[in-house]
Amino acid sequence: MTSFTATGPRRERSSFKDIAHLKNLGVYFRRYALVLSISIIGMLVANIMSAIVPLLMKTGIDSLADPEIEPDIIMPAIAIAVIVIVRFFVFVVTRRIMRRVSIAVAYDLRKRMFNHIQYQGAAFFTRFSTGDLMSRTINDISMIRMVVSFGWVNIISFFFTVGTGIYFMATLSPSLTAWVVLPLPFVAVIGFMMARAMFPYYRDQQEAMAAVTEFTQENLNGIRTIQAMAQEEQEIKRFSAISTHYAQMVYRATRFNAWLGLVMPVLTSASPVIIIFYGGQLVLSGEITIGTFTAFFSYMMMVVWPVRMIGMSLSMFTAAAAGTQRIFEVLDFEQEIKDSPIADLPTRTAGHLAFRNLTFSHPGAARPTIDGVSVDIKAGETIAILGRIGAGKSTLLRAVVRLIDTPRDTVFIDGIDVCDYPVQELRRIATMIPQDPFLFSTTLRENLTYDDPGRDDAELWDAADAAGLASTVHEMTHGLDTIVGERGQTLSGGQKQRATLARGLVRNAPILLLDDCFSAVDTETEDRILSGLARLRNDKTTVLISHRVSTARHADRILVIDNGHIAESGTHDELIELGGYYADLAAVQSDQDEDRARKSRLLSNLDDSDVIEQAVEVTS
Ligand SMILES: Nc1ncnc2c1ncn2[C@@H]1O[C@H](COP(=O)(O)OP(=O)(O)OP(=O)(O)O)[C@@H](O)[C@H]1O
Ligand SMILES: [Mg+2]
Repeated sequence: MTSFTATGPRRERSSFKDIAHLKNLGVYFRRYALVLSISIIGMLVANIMSAIVPLLMKTGIDSLADPEIEPDIIMPAIAIAVIVIVRFFVFVVTRRIMRRVSIAVAYDLRKRMFNHIQYQGAAFFTRFSTGDLMSRTINDISMIRMVVSFGWVNIISFFFTVGTGIYFMATLSPSLTAWVVLPLPFVAVIGFMMARAMFPYYRDQQEAMAAVTEFTQENLNGIRTIQAMAQEEQEIKRFSAISTHYAQMVYRATRFNAWLGLVMPVLTSASPVIIIFYGGQLVLSGEITIGTFTAFFSYMMMVVWPVRMIGMSLSMFTAAAAGTQRIFEVLDFEQEIKDSPIADLPTRTAGHLAFRNLTFSHPGAARPTIDGVSVDIKAGETIAILGRIGAGKSTLLRAVVRLIDTPRDTVFIDGIDVCDYPVQELRRIATMIPQDPFLFSTTLRENLTYDDPGRDDAELWDAADAAGLASTVHEMTHGLDTIVGERGQTLSGGQKQRATLARGLVRNAPILLLDDCFSAVDTETEDRILSGLARLRNDKTTVLISHRVSTARHADRILVIDNGHIAESGTHDELIELGGYYADLAAVQSDQDEDRARKSRLLSNLDDSDVIEQAVEVTS
């Protein structure tokens, strides 16, 4: 059995100030101000009703104890019954409103989080992992919901109950009231201080929860790799460590909270003792009646309960403050790619793509990933980009669709800066098919009509045909209605790649950017795809990244990217003539007799050319 002992939380700053994070929720409270005011009035009414009950009991008891008064127990009994019933309904309505508001606030926040995340760029996703974001959207928002539904109600009812209780007690006996409430400020202050100390415990607990979610999420994503590498036991051990840490944090927070629960009753037990001693004497000396004495007990219970709970209520606030801080850390993250479109965009895009001295560095990188790239791609041209692994090919295509924060005046479509297009419109004009194929866990048809459910089958088949996918789909029992599983796992690597290619093609965009989309298909299929592409895109701009000369050779122009700049540029024949990287690659990948000699010469020189190393890797 694991022992859940742990040292105290880190206290790098005052936890009292952290409550201020809750002010971020103000907008939500204002949104539901009307219903909240109604429920506050409801609470006030319910409280006053509760305070009248002891008075009625006092009337009944006094009429029994005092021989001079006619005994009257029926009227108080009926009145109490009526009050209890009415109070019940007021209470039900009030709680119902609270619950609905709390659900609405959680809903609003969760929606805001999701919307915010949708438009984020690379920096955001480097800063927050998937699991962390999931934990924040689920767990932290639940904490906030607790405060909205209970926490602040407890605080308001604290003031109401204590206020009405003390007021009614004071009307009966000011001196006894003074004695009874004397210990309460101490109780409240101690409760307050303990709650204040609670914040770091909750924050650590939430962070530990996030770690569990994060780890589980990554594990599930990589389960195949983990199993293929036989790392299950290792993963179980790592999970156990993370999970134990979470359990320790929960234990620590709960233990601290339990202390609050234990200390409070001890502190508040002073009040009944005072009533018995001092109140009893007042009864004996005839200063108060026995009815007043009994009523005091009821009022004392009424007042002490919320005072006792104040610590817990405040700790709920501190937990929510921790949650709010974590939520707004995400919401306050400024969007990298800002949409600042100009007003008059042309209605038709020809597809002329130009890079003008584009330089881009990934944050923290030692040297620029793209280093002064200038190239003009005419409308309707087909361009192939080749280059070593990590040369910057994908980054160059990402710059076009602003998946990286492209600097101004560097990338233009039809002479207009890509930064001047609305991002959505830009990505409609220039469709990029990313290097790692991703499919949604639904049917092939829904994947192909993902951005436009209105597409007819003829269009889908046309795209599938051009992507070399049609025959595969025909062979499937359910055809286009085949469900592809999570991330397309029921398809082969090549099928998945062709399906994403078809999804890109069907958009029929003026500019199509293919990031290494034929790497997992055989050369025969590749030929079929290339002729399909030529048919579908003969007058449209197409840029394709490849590691294969067989793919690139048909392009109008070939660019070789090396270390972020264009090293070679020209047609297949021109680059072969040039005798550089492209020519080497062509030789290594070729089976033609005339290339054999060059190939063996290159292979024998492996140590001085890593170009060849990579070329061999690609060929094999
Ligand atoms: N988000 C990132 N943060 C930091 N560096 C990055 C990031 N993405 C890519 N890089 C770096 O930028 C360089 C270029 O990456 P890029 O993906 O453009 O290469 P590539 O030419 O497409 O390679 P490949 O042929 O392997 O796909 C690499 O060195 C890579 O490590
Ligand atoms: Mg790449």
